[in-house]
Amino acid sequence: MRMYDIIEKKRDGHALTKDEIKFFIDGYTKNEIPDYQVSALLMAIYFQDMNHEERAQLTQAMVESGDQIDLSKINGIKVDKHSTGGVGDTTTLILAPLVASVGVPVAKMSGRGLGHTGGTIDKLESVPGFHVEISNDEFIDLVNKNKVAVVGQSGNLTPADKKIYGLRDVTATVNSIPLIASSIMSKKIASGADAIVLDVKTGAGAFMKKLDEAKELATAMVAIGNKVGRNTMAVISDMSQPLGNAIGNALEVSEAIETLRGSGPKDLTELCLTLGSQMVVLAKQAESIDEARAKLEANLHNGKALQQFKVFLESQGGDASVVDNPEKLPQASYQIELPAKSSGTIAEIVADDIGTAAMMLGAGRATKDAEIDLAVGMVLHKKIGDKVNEGESLLTIYANSENLDEVKEKLYNSISISRDDVTAPTLIHDIITTA
Ligand code: URA
Ligand code: CA
Repeated sequence: MRMYDIIEKKRDGHALTKDEIKFFIDGYTKNEIPDYQVSALLMAIYFQDMNHEERAQLTQAMVESGDQIDLSKINGIKVDKHSTGGVGDTTTLILAPLVASVGVPVAKMSGRGLGHTGGTIDKLESVPGFHVEISNDEFIDLVNKNKVAVVGQSGNLTPADKKIYGLRDVTATVNSIPLIASSIMSKKIASGADAIVLDVKTGAGAFMKKLDEAKELATAMVAIGNKVGRNTMAVISDMSQPLGNAIGNALEVSEAIETLRGSGPKDLTELCLTLGSQMVVLAKQAESIDEARAKLEANLHNGKALQQFKVFLESQGGDASVVDNPEKLPQASYQIELPAKSSGTIAEIVADDIGTAAMMLGAGRATKDAEIDLAVGMVLHKKIGDKVNEGESLLTIYANSENLDEVKEKLYNSISISRDDVTAPTLIHDIITTA
């Protein structure tokens, strides 16, 4: 087999075979095929696309390029959730204990964040003592015992994806549905889940800004998952404004606690119930979405979800008393209000810019090894569609510096107030279960 022929075949619009896909993935992983040939093939894929079968084969080849996590010693159907990323997305912190509380095993492998706030592990590490440095055996034992555990990423997962993603970044081939879908799904599948719930975000703060693009990506990923034998479904949710009210690591832990108590922000609670219901059904812990949702809602109000969160924190060294005493979480030195400059209705809260403001406060990492400040961030008091009076606080900034002129300017520029009525955006745009 020759790489030249594979490039030519895709260039001319033909479907590649499983063997051809495996040939270029294996060859590239082993450095036997040069960057320039893979670049040419990626550009051909960008223009000629791949059918569902090719996409599944590409995903499977990337999964097999490195280690795969074996979760078979965990009892039950392991369901993982993946979000395509947004601002202030606290759902994992809530969903993990919430679905565990109705019997779904949650074996979460997570990473540190890059960008506007930390990742799930950074957020959890704002709980004093909590750590994810546990062995694989401990991880599996914890999930069997408590139904939920989080471990840091280890091993050599999907090295082919790492190399290809790096190449796409410099060859203008990131924005391609088959390449994005296979990249995301390969990582989820290598992490060992039996079933996968995808939260594909759309709107100004999302990777897929337009609804039809988000649907196309969701459909592509659902098709891949089901073709490689992992039950997969996708929820398309709104990211035109930040999710919930809190943006920042410890602030989001506080928000997760409130939500697990049944008194969290409406949008965040609704998204968690929507995603959670799908997870519970895929794990076969309920026969219908309605039954799953009723179980989850009950546990948000009877204390079981919160209790599950305490057990989870304690089992990984965390001080579970933060749940009843949130002042034990890292605290910022300054709390500063941002008053509205005019009266009206909130028309826009540009999620990306709010994320940038959180970065400027120190809540996120600009580079992989940067230190982050777990205490800082902001809490929104108004969301799109809410009325506001001049002088009323739009949000509270939590900072460890008094010099906030630039942050304030960024925030004022990201929030617009209209004199007309504005309706709140739809939160759940679609649910995709088959391609
Ligand atoms: N996220 C990924 O993991 N891969 C992509 O290709 C795009 C976003
Ligand atoms: Ca939030």
